[in-house]
Amino acid sequence: MYKIVKKRDLAPNIFEMDILAPRVANSAQPGQFVIVIADEEGERIPLTICDYDKEEGTVSIVVQAMGCSTKKMAAYNEGDYFKDFVGPLGQPSEYVNEDIEEVKKKKVLFVAGGVGAAPVYPQVRWFHENGIDVDVIVGAKTKDLIILEDKIKNVAGNLYIATDDGSYGFNGMVTGLIEDLVKNQGKKYDLVISIGPMIMMKFVCLLTKKLGIKTIVSLNPIMVDGTGMCGACRVSVGNETKFACVDGPEFDGHLVDFDEALKRQTQYKSEENILNEKREGHVCRCQQQGGAK
Ligand code: NAD
Ligand code: FES
Repeated sequence: MYKIVKKRDLAPNIFEMDILAPRVANSAQPGQFVIVIADEEGERIPLTICDYDKEEGTVSIVVQAMGCSTKKMAAYNEGDYFKDFVGPLGQPSEYVNEDIEEVKKKKVLFVAGGVGAAPVYPQVRWFHENGIDVDVIVGAKTKDLIILEDKIKNVAGNLYIATDDGSYGFNGMVTGLIEDLVKNQGKKYDLVISIGPMIMMKFVCLLTKKLGIKTIVSLNPIMVDGTGMCGACRVSVGNETKFACVDGPEFDGHLVDFDEALKRQTQYKSEENILNEKREGHVCRCQQQGGAK
């Protein structure tokens, strides 16, 4: 059992939880993820790691209450326990194992969309701890949905905000802000690391391909076991089939078949909708089983 030692609201329906999981915290590296199982009947929910504290033995996760299982997780409070907390899973980010002197030569831009700001934070912190300033873009639909702004600002060289409705920062999507930085403000980048909704990563990659900037994306396809056994998370990268859970989750974005990945992501939408409709009618499976703690 894994204790929730802290829970914070970040934005409407988005919250951060610190989980006591010393072994996971001790070996976590930027780019990796965990699978959380709330209770005996819970689904396996893959979540990117938002932070880890090796001394406290805690790992932070950010959950957006969207589907039946994440809404159920949202009902857990400080002092409650999750049944399982498996990780760290997946490969660490590429730069972690590169020669640090080579990494220092690169101008890096992180592009986070919505909840994607959470997995971007430990990566930006890694660069900061290694004495490297990176630029960061955080985009969201509106000001209220920008998360972790202060935390990221503390470790980023420059933080740029974009909102789709223009309520805060740049008026437009993250792709508009990338173009503005590169074309109007003379910024030069050797590497873009983009994490957020699949559709955002697709359009970031289309743009950076035109701009000639290498781009890494963190894919979040449907996952089941998270250990390379079931094949649910398969994606096509450079005409090869890869499993996001063991080969990724980070890949060269210019090689990813995003259209196929987007199609696979919606494969179970109708089942999810039925489950949510049942939930509205108070017969959701997790409620039938006694509800959240
Ligand atoms: P969102 O839909 O509000 O989008 C966030 C930002 O992405 C927008 O403000 C915009 O700047 C940009 N964006 C969106 N569509 C775009 C497009 N077509 N072209 C250019 N830019 C675009 O984000 P949200 O509601 O927070 O997204 C939640 C999604 O993010 C979920 O599906 C979740 O699974 C996913 N997510 C992915 C990861 C990951 O590891 N890749 C991590 C966390 C969340
Ligand atoms: Fe089963 Fe990746 S989630 S192979």
